[in-house]
Amino acid sequence: MKLLYNPISPFARMCVITAREVGLKSLDIVAVEGLSVISANEEVVRHNPLGRIPTLITDHGHPMHDSRVICEYIAHRAGNTSVLPDEPVKRFRILTLQALGQGMADTAVALRYETASRPETLRWRELIDRNRQRLTAACKDLEEHWITELKEVTLGSIAVAATLAYLDFRHGDLGWRDSNQRLAEWFGRFSARPSMAPVAV
Ligand code: BEZ
Repeated sequence: MKLLYNPISPFARMCVITAREVGLKSLDIVAVEGLSVISANEEVVRHNPLGRIPTLITDHGHPMHDSRVICEYIAHRAGNTSVLPDEPVKRFRILTLQALGQGMADTAVALRYETASRPETLRWRELIDRNRQRLTAACKDLEEHWITELKEVTLGSIAVAATLAYLDFRHGDLGWRDSNQRLAEWFGRFSARPSMAPVAV
């Protein structure tokens, strides 16, 4: 099983953290070079018409994306039922937390593109401000409503951890820890897990 990967992508990181948490050993992590918001990588496009990372190629040669599908497949292949339990109350709460983490990552990456990739004269100030507000509101929501669920290792807490790590890397100026002490403490503990170590590729 091969994962086309980029070390900066929070979406790719979610897949790697999941594989490590569920103990899936047979994942070949392949770093992809030369990807940007306006350029394509031939190998990725061959497997995923959207040209996005992460893309997984199964042992049978079937391509799979996006990160939510890949994380669920990785858990399934490892025979793990605790990162996304069947019990409906827990399951839909975890899926909502995962969607929140993923939505934050979408927003944070869009903010990065708007500020770093787009020429200064073409930047849309209102969109930058709105996306910063979204991220601040999401961190507040995690602090106020999700600390109990975050304490379990699930596809939800994994998505949030990967995204907060990306916020630290690209958007440290947001200062998300300043008014979210419990979230910061949780993230400090989660970051010490072996699954959060950088990938040696
Ligand atoms: C970044 O450079 O911030 C980035 C790279 C790959 C995927 C997402 C974000």
